[in-house]
Amino acid sequence: MLTIALSKGRILDDTLPLLAAAGIVPTENPDKSRKLIISTTQDDVRLLIVRATDVPTYVEHGAADLGVAGKDVLLEYGGQGLYEPLDLRIARCKLMTAGAVGAPEPKGRLRVATKFVNVAKRYYAEQGRQVDIIKLYGSMELAPLVGLADKIIDVVDTGNTLKANGLEAQELIAHISSRLIVNKASMKMQHGRLQALIDTLREAVESHHPH
Ligand code: ATP
Ligand code: PRP
Repeated sequence: MLTIALSKGRILDDTLPLLAAAGIVPTENPDKSRKLIISTTQDDVRLLIVRATDVPTYVEHGAADLGVAGKDVLLEYGGQGLYEPLDLRIARCKLMTAGAVGAPEPKGRLRVATKFVNVAKRYYAEQGRQVDIIKLYGSMELAPLVGLADKIIDVVDTGNTLKANGLEAQELIAHISSRLIVNKASMKMQHGRLQALIDTLREAVESHHPH
């Protein structure tokens, strides 16, 4: 059995056409179903539906052989426990700092609200800046508006969410897209099968999302 961990929403929507190119099609619509394990047209391939931030955990521990996760999630997760053999070129965005339009740099320590705590620590440490990081789980854009933080770190695509809240993107931390990740033991034990699937997915990426 090959188990693939995916999250609902844009990753699922953009990954299903790539899996279909490899002959893997869910037997029911994962967006509609309340099931968390979804079988596919291949008897020995199943999908696990998990939270986006949980995908690396399932794959590193071997509960899933493969997964699809945003590079933002992988940067935050960290560690050496996963192979990352393929950029799927889906769910593209940028990880950025943002702050209120026209706000002056604060005099004291910068307060940064984000769900990407590890990324934030690393980013400001590299710059030699002392900051207070405030962990949030979502709706980061609110923090500067109500004085919880001076800046946020979040993913930005069109910039519409920032704009709607009077914020502007500032520094670029990383270009983001979703990656195929593979459990290290699975890659050893099922090398032929996984390499063949990776090669097929690579071809599908080239045709669906050319450079
Ligand atoms: P959850 O809903 O479980 O809290 P999430 O909101 O991060 O997780 P999604 O919104 O589905 O989950 O995002 C999945 C991935 O898609 C993110 O990790 C990021 O890489 C990318 N992403 C997030 N927002 C955008 C966007 N507006 N445009 C393009 N890609 C995005
Ligand atoms: C994501 C992310 C940002 C927004 C950025 O939220 O959390 O808030 O997209 O995209 P934009 O620059 O095009 O506005 P999403 O819309 O996925 O909602 P979510 O909070 O449910 O993830």
